Amino acid sequence: MLKIENMTMRFGGVVAANKFNADIEKGQIVGLIGPNGAGKTTIFNVITGVYRPTEGKIIFNPGEEEQDITGLRPDEIAKLGICRTFQNIRLFKELSVLDNVFIGNHLRIESNVFSSILKFPNYRKEEKMMLEKSLYLLEKVGLEDEKDGKAHSLPYGKQRRLEIARALATEPKLLLLDEPAAGMNPQETRELMEFIKDIKDEFELTIFLIEHHMEVVMGICEEILVLDHGSLIAQGDPESIQTDSNVIEAYLGVE
Ligand SMILES: Nc1ncnc2c1ncn2[C@@H]1O[C@H](COP(=O)(O)OP(=O)(O)O)[C@@H](O)[C@H]1O
Ligand SMILES: [Mg+2]
Repeated sequence: MLKIENMTMRFGGVVAANKFNADIEKGQIVGLIGPNGAGKTTIFNVITGVYRPTEGKIIFNPGEEEQDITGLRPDEIAKLGICRTFQNIRLFKELSVLDNVFIGNHLRIESNVFSSILKFPNYRKEEKMMLEKSLYLLEKVGLEDEKDGKAHSLPYGKQRRLEIARALATEPKLLLLDEPAAGMNPQETRELMEFIKDIKDEFELTIFLIEHHMEVVMGICEEILVLDHGSLIAQGDPESIQTDSNVIEAYLGVE
């Protein structure tokens, strides 16, 4: 689904990612972990076109054929089927919960700007479909009763779920989640884990997620990549990662 080849990202003197390699298979939930500042979010930023990597390649293959997406614009990458959520939640705070999801649909609609302004029949039809889809996604994330409230009035955990609903509205094939459980209580975290497995199956997603809650990472990821100072220091299933001496050292700072 996604191949990252020898990717280096430098910001001036800072090497945020250093010759990073990854191979994410279709249908998997892959975790990316590592101490703060390890370069995790930078990797997501490079995949989604926020930054062009200093070196290396990003190859995306949603099923038909391989495509080099290195250096494409974020909207082009989203259109190909990669969507993300942000470590610092990014919602349209003053818009309603429903409108936040509705906006996600726009990436997929056929009608052009003129037909949407003039409300041509095609646009009307698409608008109706978009509305139905948005309501369905809100139900899916358990926010249907809150659809008319403003996004910023939702508690933290629900804002994170709303952000995921908006991402799903773009119909991604690969979903990137940057610390989806951040700020969630244990109950919300457990629900989130079920929810992620659920949407993976229902929407046939491949999921790449950054997370600090080890319960989440060890509980739902089939494969885990461990990053430290921009470099991949370990890779494997949850069991092998938990006993890996490099990983323990990176986290605890002991030999
Ligand atoms: N736009 C940027 N400009 C300069 N330095 C950056 C930028 N983005 C990230 N960095 C640096 O890259 C390193 C990795 O950051 P980040 O990817 O956010 O780490 P993580 O998500 O693992 O906590 C940090 O040292 C950070 O300060
Ligand atoms: Mg980060």
